[in-house]
Amino acid sequence: TTNENILAENNLSPQEFAVSQQHRLSLKGHKPLLVWFSGLSGSGKSTLANMVEKKLYEKKIHTYLLDGDNVRTGLNNDLNFTSEDRSENIRRIAEVARLFIDSGTVVIAAFITPLKTDRATIKAIVGENNFVGVFVNTSLEECERRDVKGLYKKARSGEIKNFTGVDAPYEEPVDFDITIDTAACGTEEAVAQILNIVERRIVSR
Ligand code: PPS
Repeated sequence: TTNENILAENNLSPQEFAVSQQHRLSLKGHKPLLVWFSGLSGSGKSTLANMVEKKLYEKKIHTYLLDGDNVRTGLNNDLNFTSEDRSENIRRIAEVARLFIDSGTVVIAAFITPLKTDRATIKAIVGENNFVGVFVNTSLEECERRDVKGLYKKARSGEIKNFTGVDAPYEEPVDFDITIDTAACGTEEAVAQILNIVERRIVSR
């Protein structure tokens, strides 16, 4: 269904806004962007996302972090971990990111995002130009060795079903902008690498 169809079916007509995205951007002094972290549970995506946000904040960039803690407990608290629910989870988050982008904000999102098709949906919703993908490439072996939340143990014993990497798929991103090999590089180095790309993408001309 196109936006035009949705508007017509619901007797809606688009409102002309007095304050445009351009106005909001000039106020902020930088472009918006969606920086999307994908990786297995326990791969370190939230840690990296937090560090990147802190650095951007220190440079007076307007940011907002979306992750499981503020999304799966609220907006998406009706969703589980079936592939259908994961897709809906990602679709809604991408729509939220689209609104934040319209506000001029640099959005940082950290979700497993295991499926290629859902990652394509994100780009379709926010636009390729607004997207930077970061693959946090920590091996399953390493994530499971750390098992920070004890979830891999539960997944192996069958207490949790559909666990990514155990009995649910993780399709490695091959088209993301950055791949972080956490076995080979430290977090500081990874953050610097991400910031370098993000900063280049948000300079307003
Ligand atoms: S997804 O696949 O992108 O919709 O997942 P996401 O919203 O990022 O949620 C991942 C966190 O949920 C916890 N959890 C599970 N993960 C994977 N599979 C199953 N079945 C599952 N059940 C609960 C887990 O703590 C994930 O947290 P992170 O931060 O990724 O470790």
